[in-house]
Amino acid sequence: MDVVRSRAELRRALDGRRRPLGLVPTMGWLHAGHRSLIAQAHDECGAVAVSIFVNPRQFDDPADLARYPRGEATDLRLCADAGADLVWLPSVDDVYPAGFDTSVTVERLTLPLEGAARPGHFAGVTTVVAVLFGIVRPDRAYFGEKDGQQLRVIERMARDLGMTEVVRCPTVREPDGLALSSRNVHLAADDRAAAPVLHRALLAGRAAWKAGERDASAIRDRVAAVLATERRVAVEYVSCADDVTLVELERIEGPAMLSLAARFGPTRLIDNVRLG
Ligand code: PAJ
Repeated sequence: MDVVRSRAELRRALDGRRRPLGLVPTMGWLHAGHRSLIAQAHDECGAVAVSIFVNPRQFDDPADLARYPRGEATDLRLCADAGADLVWLPSVDDVYPAGFDTSVTVERLTLPLEGAARPGHFAGVTTVVAVLFGIVRPDRAYFGEKDGQQLRVIERMARDLGMTEVVRCPTVREPDGLALSSRNVHLAADDRAAAPVLHRALLAGRAAWKAGERDASAIRDRVAAVLATERRVAVEYVSCADDVTLVELERIEGPAMLSLAARFGPTRLIDNVRLG
């Protein structure tokens, strides 16, 4: 597995690789969720590149950026193990050279949910992903359903700008249902024990939908009722939105995304499931 840092090293390492070339963009502190993306890319592509870059532009809170966990040596082992051919670890200057003056924005899809809670976040995500796509020029790029709105925003950008094929990868969970996340390390023991309530709540909402409930606010109430059984959780939102536009629904007539954001102490977690 090649490990490269500068843009020039990356270009040399990409030269003559088998195609299709798959790209797995990450911010490091890799876990079994990232591993499944790399493994899926390995199964489906001739070569797999992983990028590891903690992107300052997508953090609205400097404290959040400062405490983002980092661990290069373990990340590289996981990449090699999962079947990556190449890992790119750019510096901030490699990604945003002096004079960088471009922002890529997806408009309506970034207004609700995470976009409303974290101003500027998605412009940071789409800008960095556009840069990564532009430099690596992959045939396919792999993203997790765990970040449901991010996935849809990147799909929209890639389709609108004719960039690359975006591949959806299923959410990997702990045995108790908690979605794997780099942020889980910040959970205190009691909060970690309580956190599976997020997935339980989403499953209760989905069960109501499966039983025939089509009133979106009844589904949201069902989710909220399960969350309310756990006093350690501070709920930010519960959403039942159109799966494509992410507009909040009254009646559920087609595919929908049931999602939530909640805090355990200072740690903010998100999760979602699809209806239909
Ligand atoms: P990061 O949080 O490191 O996640 C990298 C990729 O792993 C994303 O596509 C994310 O959805 C996926 N992922 C995270 N947890 C997962 C899980 N439990 N199951 C399946 N997939 C999971 O998302 C980002 O980085 C950044 O915003 C990025 C796209 C790299 C742009 O900076």
